[in-house]
Amino acid sequence: MEKSISVGILGLGTVGSGVIQIIEGHQKELIHQVGCPITVEKVLVRDINKPRSVEIDEEKLTEKAEDVYANPEVDVVIEVMGGIKEAKEYIIQALQHKKNVVTANKDLMALHGAELLRLASENNCDLYYEASVAGGIPIIRTLVEGLSSDRITKMMGIVNGTTNFILTKMSKFGSSYDEVLKEAQELGFAESDPTSDVEGLDAARKMAILATLGFSMDIDLEDVVVRGITTVTTDDLHYCEQLGYTLKLIGIAERNEGRVEVSVQPTLLPNEHPLSAVNDEFNAVYVYGEAVGETMFYGPGAGSLPTATSIVSDLVTVMKNMRLGVTGRSITAPLHEKQLKTDEEIESKYFLRLHVADKAGTFSSITSLFAEHDISFEKLLQLPIEETELAEIIIITHQTTKKTYENIYKRLNELDVVQSVESSYRVEGGK
Ligand code: NAP
Ligand code: HSE
Repeated sequence: MEKSISVGILGLGTVGSGVIQIIEGHQKELIHQVGCPITVEKVLVRDINKPRSVEIDEEKLTEKAEDVYANPEVDVVIEVMGGIKEAKEYIIQALQHKKNVVTANKDLMALHGAELLRLASENNCDLYYEASVAGGIPIIRTLVEGLSSDRITKMMGIVNGTTNFILTKMSKFGSSYDEVLKEAQELGFAESDPTSDVEGLDAARKMAILATLGFSMDIDLEDVVVRGITTVTTDDLHYCEQLGYTLKLIGIAERNEGRVEVSVQPTLLPNEHPLSAVNDEFNAVYVYGEAVGETMFYGPGAGSLPTATSIVSDLVTVMKNMRLGVTGRSITAPLHEKQLKTDEEIESKYFLRLHVADKAGTFSSITSLFAEHDISFEKLLQLPIEETELAEIIIITHQTTKKTYENIYKRLNELDVVQSVESSYRVEGGK
């Protein structure tokens, strides 16, 4: 048998512990794949005295990052410490020391992925990051390899488990937002500061990574339009259900004639759409390719062992590349220049919930405004609001441009008969 391959790990928290469990627990299968044992040489932690959830020889723990990235015994560095500044610095050091790198760090890859991939290539090293999007779902490998012969035109993803868990519980059990967020934190899906989950930033980072790969175009985080779920109410969820829709936090990446849009926002999907059935903390990515048609990839988006599975699979790929002497060759520069759609080119249907004066003329003011913009209604619901002189109107529009919709939205707020626009969401469903 060949000499073993040694791994250095930056971080031994939820994911790092899973990596050690998989490397140790699946050694027989791993040897069969790569032809030699895998050993863990050094592991960076903040505090070596902290109790650990996996058994590890104390001598392997270190509080000095250079013991990992500059260690002559280490062949591959696995970065599972999170954060941006130090993680970036240590990955750069590892690549400059000619170590291959595997990371689960979506924050880092969404912001500095292009730069790090270039550096990896210059050093003939691999840099893989499957676990950075949708934890245990091999979606990056699917885009880069499985669907590489096709032209992808649309991706829609439920790529944040925390928000999917919150919306599922609010919708199914009428639970309050705060109550369910607390439950998600206790169950460990949410980030330590859940702001990036609920404000949509975590999903935006993942969509920037997916869009870059799926469209072979450098999509930056700031190209992603982001809206989280903090304003979603149980009333909204109730009306969606009544109209045959499910409200999810959806990352949308769409390409038409070479121009793309990427966004993350609460979105209504028809109940029969495959993403509508993705509940609780599960993730799924729907991919439409011109040749293949509709595909969908479903699974756990977080958690120690699911995420570690993706990391160790990346490690297997790196080891196979090392054996063939081809590390650093799989990294390709984007094929297309970035071209983002304008608001006149982004088309969608919309859901609106209005509180209006319950009197003659209200309805005609609203319909006139929509007619003026040449938008018709697909669905409409009007209900009195008990013990008030107000009514609630729920509208689902036909397809229109984002530009026109934003204009209507502004004008609705200015109408005397409209007391408030309570909520407004994008509606999806097609390819
Ligand atoms: P975590 O539980 O907080 O673990 C972080 C580990 O890194 C800890 O062992 C910590 O040491 C160590 N660490 C952090 N900063 C350090 C520093 N400056 N110097 C030395 N050690 C440091 O995090 P996690 O949940 O495993 O997540 C790790 C990465 O995986 C993140 O990038 C995350 O976004 C990504 N990810 C996580 C999941 C998931 O389900 N958790 C899923 C997909 C991707 P101590 O233990 O001594 O504090
Ligand atoms: N906080 C993230 C989520 C963890 O809820 O999906 C996985 O990236």
